[in-house]
Amino acid sequence: MNVLTGSHIREAAEYITSRIKVKPEIGLIMGSGLGILGDYIEEAVTINYEDIPHFPLSTVEGHAGELLIGTLSGRTVVLMRGRFHMYEGYGPELTAFPVRVMKAIGVATLVVTNAAGGINQGYDPGDLMLISDHINLTGRNPLIGPNDDELGVRFPDMSEAYSSRLRGLARQTAEAQGFTLREGVYVGILGPSYETPAEIRMMRTMGADAVGMSTVAEVIAARHSGIEVLGISCISNMASGILNQPLSHAEVMETTERVKTRFLSLVNGLIALL
Ligand code: 6GU
Repeated sequence: MNVLTGSHIREAAEYITSRIKVKPEIGLIMGSGLGILGDYIEEAVTINYEDIPHFPLSTVEGHAGELLIGTLSGRTVVLMRGRFHMYEGYGPELTAFPVRVMKAIGVATLVVTNAAGGINQGYDPGDLMLISDHINLTGRNPLIGPNDDELGVRFPDMSEAYSSRLRGLARQTAEAQGFTLREGVYVGILGPSYETPAEIRMMRTMGADAVGMSTVAEVIAARHSGIEVLGISCISNMASGILNQPLSHAEVMETTERVKTRFLSLVNGLIALL
């Protein structure tokens, strides 16, 4: 059951609005090791999650807990450094809460990023993948419970969860910058254990190209409230059973560190076009 209601969203939004002078148009949720983008925000106001009414705290290494609001590539943005994963024990409605707060402060476009395991055997660690669609294997949904009609409809359409218009702009940006951008289906699982090789084979058969433990709940909430979404996965490692080696969070962090520059120039270039 949803413990968070419209009044919780409003209280969080009012607090954030009271701390800033601008109206953010673009929301950015940064995945593991990708929060560095926040360092490029000009005239940034930093708000700690612990100061925002009803905001949970993030508990994973590599995930800070702060909101940065300011200008990036000439646009007003709100960036989440650190997100809430369901494997941390948060319900899907808590995971999605910041997205609803973003909507309440004026965000119309959301860029979600994550570190993901490559399922597609044509991919390599370090590749960037535009998310064309997702498969929700978390078994959870942030919209369960009574529907708040002020946020969106009971049965939201998900036929274009990841905007084809925004994907076109991302492709254009990557081409101008001269690098290959993969495009594929992201499958979201609950975690925190990585998948088994058998699960990865199942996911490949289902049509998935990359797997991760975030994003799907946030995107469902964003689409529910009419926010246009762009998703980018950083392929940080190959999923289990593909290479003859165990998976580790250390490898995820190492790869995101290595692709940082490309990732930053893609997102920065893209934001200017949004
Ligand atoms: Cl291989 N699986 C999941 N679920 N999440 C990941 C990952 C793999 N690699 C990075 N994040």
